[in-house]
Amino acid sequence: MIQNQRGLEGPHDLDHGTTPPDGRPIGEQPKWRRDFPIDWAQDEYVSRRELVKFMVLTSAAMVVGQFWIVLKSAFRPPASLSPGVAIARVDELSIGGAKTFTYPEGSTPRLLVRTGAASFVAYDQLCTHLLCPVVPAFEDGRLHCPCHNGWFDLETGRPVAGPPQRALPRIFVEIRDGSVYATGVEESTT
Ligand code: FES
Repeated sequence: MIQNQRGLEGPHDLDHGTTPPDGRPIGEQPKWRRDFPIDWAQDEYVSRRELVKFMVLTSAAMVVGQFWIVLKSAFRPPASLSPGVAIARVDELSIGGAKTFTYPEGSTPRLLVRTGAASFVAYDQLCTHLLCPVVPAFEDGRLHCPCHNGWFDLETGRPVAGPPQRALPRIFVEIRDGSVYATGVEESTT
């Protein structure tokens, strides 16, 4: 009697080198099992080996994926380092003044507002409610959407009143050599 993989005692088929999983003698096994004997121990071993192989490969793929994401973010230039595109001369707008522009080329309209002697803000001009164009309400420190009386904070672009629930996407701007440059678009807003 030989102990099989499951701890049962049973005969070992010396002709085929197999031990049936139920531990019963080979003579009591169904005909299909006698005709097609399987090396059960080897079969279970191969299954475990395949599982381990699968887990190792899956883990390796995940590690490579994470590594790739880290590499990508490490080498992506920050928006502020982008050379940008000139969208206005500084002296073109008085404080509280505004102008529309596109950035990048072919984008939806953007709105640039001069908020101080050396400060500008810019946002996508389309209201996050139903896409009407917003206009500056500089005295209130807000942007106004006349379609359904929506309001956004001028400094942050966040909705402060009315139907809009999401902030206006911000366009990053920099002042260099007397001009205002658009240097990037905020990827996600809340
Ligand atoms: S489209 Fe702006 S409030 Fe509705």
